[in-house]
Amino acid sequence: MTDDQTHKSRLTIDHEGLGIPAGAYALPTLGAVEHLGEDTHSRFAAHFAGELPLSALTDAETAFLREHFFDQFADRRQRALEYFGRNVPLRFRDAAPEEPATAWAKEVAADPHTARSVLLLGPTGTGKTHWAYGALRAVASAGAWVPWTAVTEADLYSRLRPRPGHDQEAEFQKIARTPLLFLDDLGAAKPSEWAEEVIYRLVNHRYDHCLPSLFASNLAPKGLADTLGARVASRLTQMCDRIAIKGEDRRLTKGQA
Ligand SMILES: Nc1ncnc2c1ncn2[C@@H]1O[C@H](COP(=O)(O)OP(=O)(O)O)[C@@H](O)[C@H]1O
Ligand SMILES: [Mg+2]
Repeated sequence: MTDDQTHKSRLTIDHEGLGIPAGAYALPTLGAVEHLGEDTHSRFAAHFAGELPLSALTDAETAFLREHFFDQFADRRQRALEYFGRNVPLRFRDAAPEEPATAWAKEVAADPHTARSVLLLGPTGTGKTHWAYGALRAVASAGAWVPWTAVTEADLYSRLRPRPGHDQEAEFQKIARTPLLFLDDLGAAKPSEWAEEVIYRLVNHRYDHCLPSLFASNLAPKGLADTLGARVASRLTQMCDRIAIKGEDRRLTKGQA
C-alpha cells in the first residue's frame, strides 16, 4: 500500500464487518499505521484488495480501522448536519424523516450515483416539502457530506432570467451540478417554451450524470407529460421512485402560523 493507493475506490472496505455505515471512506495513510507493526500496511493492502479477510487482522488492527473510518463518518455527519441547519428554511427546520425517506437517505449516503431519485406527488398542503427536507436531514444523519441545493421551479426561473451583468448559464450549471437537488413545486410555474427548455436541460443533466434529486409536484401523475413535456416526464419516470403523499391540506387543518 502506497500513499497513492490509499484513495483508490476499487479497494474495498468491509463496512459490515467493521460495523460502519456504507459510504466512501479514505483509507489510512502509511504513516498512520506504522505504529501497529511492521507488517500492518502490507496486511491492510491485502485486506483492502480483498485477499485477506477482516478476521485475519489482529484485534488492534481491526480496532484501528474501525476508529479510523468511524471518525470520518462522524466528521462528515457533523458537517452535513451543520449544513442542513444553516440552509433549511425555518418552517421545515424540525422536519423529521420517516420511512421510506430514511431508507432512501442511506442509499444516497452509500453511493449517490446509484441511488434513485424521488418524485413526490400529492395535492397542495399534504407535506411534500416537509417530506423532502426530512429526507435531506436524513441524508446528513446517514453521514453523507452532500451539499444540497433546494429551489422551487418558480425561483429557478427567476434566478435564470436573463439580466445584465448576470451569467445565467453559470448559475444554471451550479444548480444542475449540485450533488443533491431538491426541485420543489414542479409544474406550478407559468409554462413557456423557455421554461420547458430549462426544466428539460436540468432534468436531463441530472439523468445523464446519475445525480440524485428530489422532485415535488402537485401535478396528477397523468398530467406530468402534458405540463412538463414528454422528454422530461419519461426521464422522471425512469430515474425516480414515485411517492404519493396523501391526506388533507395540513395548512387548513393545523392552524399554524
Ligand atoms: N409529517 C408532518 N408532520 C408535521 N407537520 C407537517 C408534516 N408534513 C407537513 N407538515 C406541515 O404542514 C404544512 C404543509 O406542508 P408542506 O410540506 O408545505 O406541504 P406541500 O409541500 O405538500 O404543499 C407545513 O406547515 C408543514 O410544516
Ligand atoms: Mg410545498
